[in-house]
Amino acid sequence: MKSREIRQCFLDFFRERGHAIVSSSSLVSGDPSVLLTTAGMQQFKRYYTRELSAESDFGLLNVATVQKCFRTSDIDEVGDETHNTFFEMLGNFSFGGYFKREAIEYAYQFMTKEMNLRIDYVTCFEGDENISKDTEAEGIWKEIKEREGESFEIRFYGREDNFWGPTGKTGPCGPTTEIYVKGVEIWNVVFNEFYKTESSEYLPIEDKGGLKGIDTGMGLERLLIMKQGVNNIFETDLFKEMMSILPSVLILSQKRIICDHIRGAVFLISDGVRPSNKETGYVLRRLLRRIIFYTRDLDKNLLNSLIDIIYNIYHDFYEIEVGKAKEIITLEREKFEQTLSLGINELNKLEVIDAKKAFYLYESFGLPFEIIKEVSGNKADGLVLEEFEKLFEEHRDKSRLGVEKKFGGHGLILDTGEMKAGNQEELAKVLRLHTATHILQYALRKVLGNTVNQMGSDITPARARFDFSFERKLTDEEIILVEKYAKELIEKNLPVKYEKMKKSEAEKTGALRLFSNKYPEEVKVYYIGDSIETAYSKEFCGGPHVEQTSEIGKIIIKKQEAVGSGVRRIKIVVE
Ligand code: SER
Repeated sequence: MKSREIRQCFLDFFRERGHAIVSSSSLVSGDPSVLLTTAGMQQFKRYYTRELSAESDFGLLNVATVQKCFRTSDIDEVGDETHNTFFEMLGNFSFGGYFKREAIEYAYQFMTKEMNLRIDYVTCFEGDENISKDTEAEGIWKEIKEREGESFEIRFYGREDNFWGPTGKTGPCGPTTEIYVKGVEIWNVVFNEFYKTESSEYLPIEDKGGLKGIDTGMGLERLLIMKQGVNNIFETDLFKEMMSILPSVLILSQKRIICDHIRGAVFLISDGVRPSNKETGYVLRRLLRRIIFYTRDLDKNLLNSLIDIIYNIYHDFYEIEVGKAKEIITLEREKFEQTLSLGINELNKLEVIDAKKAFYLYESFGLPFEIIKEVSGNKADGLVLEEFEKLFEEHRDKSRLGVEKKFGGHGLILDTGEMKAGNQEELAKVLRLHTATHILQYALRKVLGNTVNQMGSDITPARARFDFSFERKLTDEEIILVEKYAKELIEKNLPVKYEKMKKSEAEKTGALRLFSNKYPEEVKVYYIGDSIETAYSKEFCGGPHVEQTSEIGKIIIKKQEAVGSGVRRIKIVVE
């Protein structure tokens, strides 16, 4: 059975038993207590508390879903046989409709009759000082065993294993019964009968005006392992093809991480997340940067090929923004590649890497925690995620207060030597100014002739300085004309793109270069216009740039001066 057949089988099974089928909610949960959707029940929390009514919203008290989920808590485990960041959860839910008996019966029937799987053992809650042992669930399992002639064991575990929720600090929660197949926990059936309050008390949910209910969750990937008779999630039909196109220079765990992370990234992007330095944007950035790091020396089309495979596997069930995903991943790669090798160099210079050093590497070069940990080996033995995250939080609070942001090695998210930016806002500004310098060079050459050549530039969020070869001061008329040509180009709203090519080929395109610079054998040519042949401006350049010239706004020449013989300097701002 393929993954899509299993989804269908699950939904059909519950539809036939009085459940309304509800589609997956977005990964970006509307639930303020959690960043991302981590369980199927999240979109239904308010039905248990009766803030919403299932009957009026779904026409029934019971529903079933296949829910997109994302758990950052498992990120360190990815690479083994069973963990994913993104996964799908099959779930049936009831809000005051049925309770333990039906929930256990359904799970048993589906597992053994529909899936034809043999149950290894089941677990129930053993009870503790606040909540008693779940003898009701035990009794139901015993009846089933007798009736069906089953011999599986019923085990009892404590709060860690057999009590679920709430998601966030407060909310519905309760004891669980779990089904194990081949030693793996495969289905978690939660009996939502309590409500955890702000003061950490567990009250019967009815006392809070809520409804007893059922919340179940079964990881699709794990079920597939069993059903498809394979050894791990990466051998199931969801991952097999992706794994097969990854080159053998990658070790197995890296391949798994790449497949997991790119799938997670594509789903996050499809739900509107964009890379940034906070919250969901930061989760996405971590995934992307780890993928980029592993694939940095590989075929640049590899990631696009993986995205195409993901699209083929999922598009009939979910909206997959394939174009957007490719675009964003490419852009993130360009940004990160600028600083990646600088960051790794810096990392290699350090003798011991603690949370503070790791945070410096993150801040200045964008190296995410996982990469630092991995590349540092023993040097980072004492580095723990919690301490790093603490600094991360502190830093975020400081930036919120508007303190800090000094240039010169600290607070940077982009530092190419030519440009520096300390946060997203500054980054946006320097990108506009950077593209503005290319346009300025085009306009200067149009007015003053082709002897004008860039000698250097320096860009901060406030302004760009542009040095070029020219003998004399520009007249006022020339300045006005330069601004006019620049404006015309911006108003055409042309795309800004690049092509990577051999240095010798790049030279043939007539792209401008800094004469003082040594370029590597492969270079990027950034051009402004629809194609490299018809472009208004072509330059050897590492990027990054804005995507369209209209993003720049208006270029204003603020100042001109001489900086040595035959070299002039112009200062511009954008508004
Ligand atoms: N909420 C439970 C879980 O996530 C069951 O859906 O495991």
